[in-house]
Amino acid sequence: MRFSRRSRRSTGACRYCRPRSGADRKGHSTQMPSTRAHIVSVGTAVPDRVLTNEDLEKILDTSDEWITTRTGIKRRHVLDKGDPTTASELGARAASRALAGAGLAPGDIDGIICATFTPDYFFPSTACLIGRHLGIHDVCAFDISAACAGFVYGLSLANALVLSGQCAKVLVVGAEIISKTLDWNDRSTAILFGDGAGAVVVAAHEQPDTGILGTYLSSDGRLSDILTMPAWGERRCMTMKGSEVFKHAVRLMGDAVFKALDAAGLDHGAIDLLIPHQANARIISSLAEHFAVPREKVVTNLQEYGNTSSASIPLALQDAFNDGRITGGTLVALTSLGGGLACASAIIRF
Ligand SMILES: CC(C)(COP(=O)(O)OP(=O)(O)OC[C@H]1O[C@@H](n2cnc3c(N)ncnc32)[C@H](O)[C@@H]1OP(=O)(O)O)[C@@H](O)C(=O)NCCC(=O)NCCS
Repeated sequence: MRFSRRSRRSTGACRYCRPRSGADRKGHSTQMPSTRAHIVSVGTAVPDRVLTNEDLEKILDTSDEWITTRTGIKRRHVLDKGDPTTASELGARAASRALAGAGLAPGDIDGIICATFTPDYFFPSTACLIGRHLGIHDVCAFDISAACAGFVYGLSLANALVLSGQCAKVLVVGAEIISKTLDWNDRSTAILFGDGAGAVVVAAHEQPDTGILGTYLSSDGRLSDILTMPAWGERRCMTMKGSEVFKHAVRLMGDAVFKALDAAGLDHGAIDLLIPHQANARIISSLAEHFAVPREKVVTNLQEYGNTSSASIPLALQDAFNDGRITGGTLVALTSLGGGLACASAIIRF
């Protein structure tokens, strides 16, 4: 997918957009040079099987009414119990669609970044395996562990690789098979998540007014115990202090948007579309209120997919492209939060 260039600049300033250059904050904001990294295509893949809230009522002490009112989720895609599909296979499917959308061959790609907390192996990386599935060799490839913030972390790193000249075309993939990791007796987590993958191609273009205009990465290890997935031990299932995560999610994802806008030199009034990590509809509503953004400018698709962690933002991006909410010139804010706590945001002009 390609977009015509349309320059739109924000006017006015807010207290969050003090004009300054370079990175001077605790997180890593960056101000971009004249060549930009652009998202030129997106592709997604989800398992065929759909698990509804009504299905969950049959196996857990829960109800469609509780899940809908507390989370906004109605259904999610999950692998069948015996389905051996791996995160790298799901990611490769999404990446292959992104390549097709960009009109590129595997040999055109010179970098693969995969965000996942459900990798095939500790090593080799899921990114290397995606390369193997697609026939992309002799390229920079690595995984990112930033849980639900992983995709936007990856996007920011792809941006840096492109701007530094180390790569020209990078696949950024978020791929998760979360259903394999859940404790299906734990109603507080089993209802929230789904499987899926999403990928984008990030490429260099001499179009300074469009592309990735600003990014922000941050973390707070003091909150590392409120959302965990142990690598070792008897009980290797996700644990979560849901209300704690909820509280910090609204604050941190909101602040992260302001920081990325700051890096881009833009005011929050310039945002055409807000795409938050799809964790909970109430978190998304609070964010929309925070930015005084009307609901029609906020992408919400978690009712269909649940929380797919690193795949959630590209799945939402795909929906926004499909329904025509992203066209040439649209200014999009991405914001995400995950275990760590890790937080990442990006401002992109398409
Ligand atoms: C998980 C979450 C939906 C729970 O909603 P909540 O309003 O905070 O609910 P609580 O955890 O306070 O639980 C309230 C009650 O509902 C019960 N409950 C929990 N899960 C339930 C379910 N699936 N069905 C029915 N009842 C449930 C709890 O046991 C508790 O009962 P009690 O009052 O008798 O002890 C919410 O905290 C959340 O979405 N947090 C963010 C999670 C998240 O986004 N994680 C990923 C971040 S990347």
